Amino acid sequence: MCGIIGINSNKPVSATIINSLKKLEYRGYDSAGIATLSSGLINEIKSEGRVDNLEKNSLVQSMQGTIGIGHVRWATHGLPNSINAHPHSSQNVSVVHNGIIENSTLLKKFLVGKGHKFKSQTDTEVIVHLITENLKSDDIINSIKKTLKSLHGSFALGIIFKDQPDLIVGARRGSPLAVGYGPNENYLGSDSYALKSMTNKITYLNDGEFCIIKKDHVEFFNEDGVKINKKILQLSSEEKEYEKGDYKHFMAKEIEEQPITLKNGIKEYIDTVNNDINIYNIPWKQNEISSITLIGCGTAYHSCLMSKYWFEELTSLEVNVDIASEFRYRKNRFKKDTLYVFVSQSGETADTYAALDLCNKNGMKTCSVVNVIESSIARDSEFVLPIHCGTEIGVASTKAFLGQILILYILALKFGSVRGDLEKKELSEKLKDLKNLPKLVEETLATDNKIQNVSSTFNEAKGSMFLGRGFSYPIALEGALKLKELSYIHAEGYPAGEMKHGPLALIEDGMPVVVLAPRDNYYKKTISNMQEVIARGAKVLLITNKSSDEIISENIWETIEVESTNDDLLPFLLTIPLQKLAYYSALKKGFDIDKPRNLAKSVTVE
Ligand code: F6R
Repeated sequence: MCGIIGINSNKPVSATIINSLKKLEYRGYDSAGIATLSSGLINEIKSEGRVDNLEKNSLVQSMQGTIGIGHVRWATHGLPNSINAHPHSSQNVSVVHNGIIENSTLLKKFLVGKGHKFKSQTDTEVIVHLITENLKSDDIINSIKKTLKSLHGSFALGIIFKDQPDLIVGARRGSPLAVGYGPNENYLGSDSYALKSMTNKITYLNDGEFCIIKKDHVEFFNEDGVKINKKILQLSSEEKEYEKGDYKHFMAKEIEEQPITLKNGIKEYIDTVNNDINIYNIPWKQNEISSITLIGCGTAYHSCLMSKYWFEELTSLEVNVDIASEFRYRKNRFKKDTLYVFVSQSGETADTYAALDLCNKNGMKTCSVVNVIESSIARDSEFVLPIHCGTEIGVASTKAFLGQILILYILALKFGSVRGDLEKKELSEKLKDLKNLPKLVEETLATDNKIQNVSSTFNEAKGSMFLGRGFSYPIALEGALKLKELSYIHAEGYPAGEMKHGPLALIEDGMPVVVLAPRDNYYKKTISNMQEVIARGAKVLLITNKSSDEIISENIWETIEVESTNDDLLPFLLTIPLQKLAYYSALKKGFDIDKPRNLAKSVTVE
């Protein structure tokens, strides 16, 4: 949520800031802004909408200054307009902020009493005036220290000062922030992705830390203003810039990349020589764990739910799944023999991080399944399993979902085998099938004409339903989420067996309903539920897997057949047509596929 960039250089910075903001746009895109220091003044330019709008402003093109900050916004306080866009500035100080200041109303009252005038509806503006106020009596370090201590809530900040034309201040509590090092220039950014085109040398700030960025060096401080040393990390060459190439959208590219995601995960975690699983460094003994709780948000929550079925099938563990925003505020009964697993693509989702933090504070065993290995969730978990799917830019998660469920499946196999719940022969057969999965996903990806055609029907409907049982139920939820977020069509994911307990009342003539009925243990039951919705007028799109057995049902509107494999792995294949359905529906509607309305990629606010 919101992206921050700062550059301190000996060359003009505005064009580079704009380019970096374009990279950060996946974090928020309702408004954008830039501030530089030139001729002894702070110049601030902001616009509503995308970074393109800001770039078109002729004043930006002629903007001078070798030091500056920029921001893309995802609104929390105040409408998404140019007044509320960041940076927010007084005569002396300009600030960009990612996060939420929870005590802004009280602070504003205090500052108004001191004569400060506010222009926007944002919580951020209090930071500007608080620093301005503190600078009246303190030096820069003390005024920053004092300001940060007064703020409740979460923040990543970039700050420039009229009277300190050689430095940028960065500060972090709760929201991610990185420092980058270049030749005669240094940078501040919400993530390494925004900095990658400029440097591969990065330092991540921890909670409570702040820094002073000069052109030739960077100093770090703890929350008490005491200088600290921090490591410079070298990003691997694998993490080079991620571009769209010939694809129309990042999402289309990311869907097509899924066989590679699976190949990478299998290469990393499967020992093909010994036919075993390459996870040897689990820091706990198996007799110390008797249950597992999986926690995430959105698509990552669906990954958790998916893996519940596998953990229950393959291990003797008790399995619970939780939505992070619920878990963090509930009265949890923490149990020493529970392993808490946090699933997150970005590794920065505020609710998931808070749930992890709560578990750490209660001395629990914590493990994370993340894509961004330098993220806060990865850094603060005892044990990390990266999914290695590369940068994911499309706001709607696709390859990260498949990457997450792959690693969770492998973890379930590992636990099943070391606990003696899964026989060696069974493990070996399952690993053999798994090695073939990337090829099957590739083949499933190759069939898509039907999906393009049926997507029009979903676009014309008032709403739609996605039904599945067993392994297919979490995939139904994920399919419905994808359609909602990309095409803005009401879509409900439901366990097929639950329809008769209420939702069947929603079915009316011509309503499109996706039924996931692969030829697994649940097949016959799901087909019966499918007939119940067909009988009430639904237009059923049946997604099943190829088989020599005929489908015994009448009046199915359309059928899509994915490749066949063992029951455990069918969810991977069923996911593909659902991702494509959402993609083509949004494409036909002309919506912004990589940046759906009201959303952002990395949700670093509650
Ligand atoms: C939906 C989607 C979101 C994320 C959720 C958690 O397509 O991408 O629902 O899954 O915001 O994000 P991470 O995985 O970064 O914690």
